[in-house]
Amino acid sequence: MKLPFQRVSQNPIRRRAHKCKITALRTKYPVYYNTLEQQKGSRVWIDDREMIMLSSNDYLGLTYHPRVIEAGKAAMDNWGSSSTGARLANGSRSFHEALEEKLAAFLGAEACHVNVAGYVSCMSAICGFAERGDLVLADKNIHSSLWSGISLSGAKLERFSHNNPADLEDALTHEDAGVAKLIVFEGIYSMEGHICPLPELLEVARNHNCFSILDDAHALGVLGAQGRGTASHFKVDSGAVDITCGSFSKSLASTGGFIAGDRALIEYMKSHAKPTIFSAALSPVQAACASTALDILQEEPEHLAQLWKNVETYNEILREFKLDTWGSQTPAIPIVLGTKERAYYFWKALREKGIFTVISVAPGVPPGKDLIRTAVSARHSEEDFEQIAEALQHAVKQAL
Ligand SMILES: Cc1ncc(COP(=O)(O)O)c(C=O)c1O
Repeated sequence: MKLPFQRVSQNPIRRRAHKCKITALRTKYPVYYNTLEQQKGSRVWIDDREMIMLSSNDYLGLTYHPRVIEAGKAAMDNWGSSSTGARLANGSRSFHEALEEKLAAFLGAEACHVNVAGYVSCMSAICGFAERGDLVLADKNIHSSLWSGISLSGAKLERFSHNNPADLEDALTHEDAGVAKLIVFEGIYSMEGHICPLPELLEVARNHNCFSILDDAHALGVLGAQGRGTASHFKVDSGAVDITCGSFSKSLASTGGFIAGDRALIEYMKSHAKPTIFSAALSPVQAACASTALDILQEEPEHLAQLWKNVETYNEILREFKLDTWGSQTPAIPIVLGTKERAYYFWKALREKGIFTVISVAPGVPPGKDLIRTAVSARHSEEDFEQIAEALQHAVKQAL
């Protein structure tokens, strides 16, 4: 018999949680929320087994760079473990402002604001500007953080086809010219590995007097001179984009995020974006790691060069097996399998051979695009690629 405190009341939310089919399916298969017991460079350990990490966003491989680690330790000594409060209330620290100045200069922006997470920054980049009565036009493949920002803003939403400026133009010609409009897109789409057609999107934005918001989370550190991002890649003046947001949890070997643009816009965002106003400040350690990674980007070009060399090596292997990479142009490289089943068995076969990857299936990706998401890092070695090639051969045999 259950004691009174063990009896669980079956209120509707508890019932919904207990009966959720999606959660039951997820917990049945060991695909998501894995526990890594150890990590060293490109290697991770699961259930005491060494594996090659082939889906992390540590594109430049800086998470174990001695300078980054040293900077994190020094920040902890100087500032303690946490900022323990929102900047609006408890104050910014000088290291936040120093990082903001450094990052703004790197991006060619007038000002910048850093947050505790990229998710918070990307939400803020939208809900700090869009409001009820406005119209947001969003590429249909944008990240969840941007969708969350749109929902929170209360603005009307229209999606345009992925990376399709003509479709965006078409959508805009049917809209009321008097309504304030914002266009939202990413520099690199992390599932597809596609680069956005920035000059064309900005031309449409200009023609229709729209505010532009670029999420450069995956392009920072990867595209453009020294990894300055998508605007630099296309040699577009960085001021042509109204707001650039992004994350420190990819190439910058940290966590946290940023919003960059004209000073007046950043100050306006700081008065209006609830995720920024009400979230705790970026921690000292994470700020120091991101700041040092930013120095490394500018002082040690070999990491970016190695990353693109590795992308080439990996693509050669994938071509050998005639795998569909959805036209990826970047280190984020999907292997499109087309059905949930094929994606699962391909993932499982790679796992058997010691390769860690991630599955993404519909509705997370368009129907028929069920895939394994892989990503190359500057840290992957020739030996890693040999093992990856063997594993792919095994997976092709097992799953296709
Ligand atoms: C395109 C994009 N934007 C924003 C984010 C959020 O960044 P973070 O995970 O650092 O909070 C991510 C993270 O996956 C992302 O891929």
